[in-house]
Amino acid sequence: MATRPLLIAPSILAADLGHLTDDIERVLAAGADWLHLDIMDGQFVDNISFGPAIVKLARGLTTRPLDVHLMIERADHYIPRFAEAGANSITVHVEAEAKHDVAGSLRAIREHGCRAGLTLNPATPFAEVEAHLPNVDLLLVMTVHPGFGGQSFRPEMMAKVRRGRELRESLGADYDIEVDGGINPETARLCLENGANVFVAGTSIFKTADYAAAIRGLRGR
Ligand code: DX5
Ligand code: ZN
Repeated sequence: MATRPLLIAPSILAADLGHLTDDIERVLAAGADWLHLDIMDGQFVDNISFGPAIVKLARGLTTRPLDVHLMIERADHYIPRFAEAGANSITVHVEAEAKHDVAGSLRAIREHGCRAGLTLNPATPFAEVEAHLPNVDLLLVMTVHPGFGGQSFRPEMMAKVRRGRELRESLGADYDIEVDGGINPETARLCLENGANVFVAGTSIFKTADYAAAIRGLRGR
């Protein structure tokens, strides 16, 4: 089985929103592989962030993949807008509170030319995503409850990362395994050992003085 590239996806939720363009260019120059964009509607999660306009802004700054994480209700209604704004992957939540047809949304994401991502909250049993795994390109295991940056990493989520790796092999499926929440050099190493290859990080990059050193640290260098 080919090893997957280790990819760093800074979460711009933690960037300096007052100088967003500069901060995005700085993190790209520092070696980011993807950009992670957290979309929050104040309904599915208890916070409000930004929408397609910020995805479009990022699209104008780079050709690197834009990884859009939809923490919103009725994601199916907004998928076309995020695809048009320039998203490369769009990730939706499996929980019923997201109020959408999960299988339909995954199909729609691919039909709009994007990679289909599926994610689950820490409290959600892994069994809820298993049936969808043959139809995803990205499995995102939340390592914090979504809604805010700067929270503590939950090591017990490693069981889900391992299960995702096992099923990928047994199903002959083809998806990246991404982790999000409290990722720093120490927790990234643990996630890598358990099978993850894409690392979202906000605080451990944007709240430091040297973005390049922070990204090298997440790569274990
Ligand atoms: C939380 C978001 C994360 C968050 C990560 O709901 O999905 O992407 O911004 O931030 P840190 O790395 O600070 O935990
Ligand atoms: Zn996220």
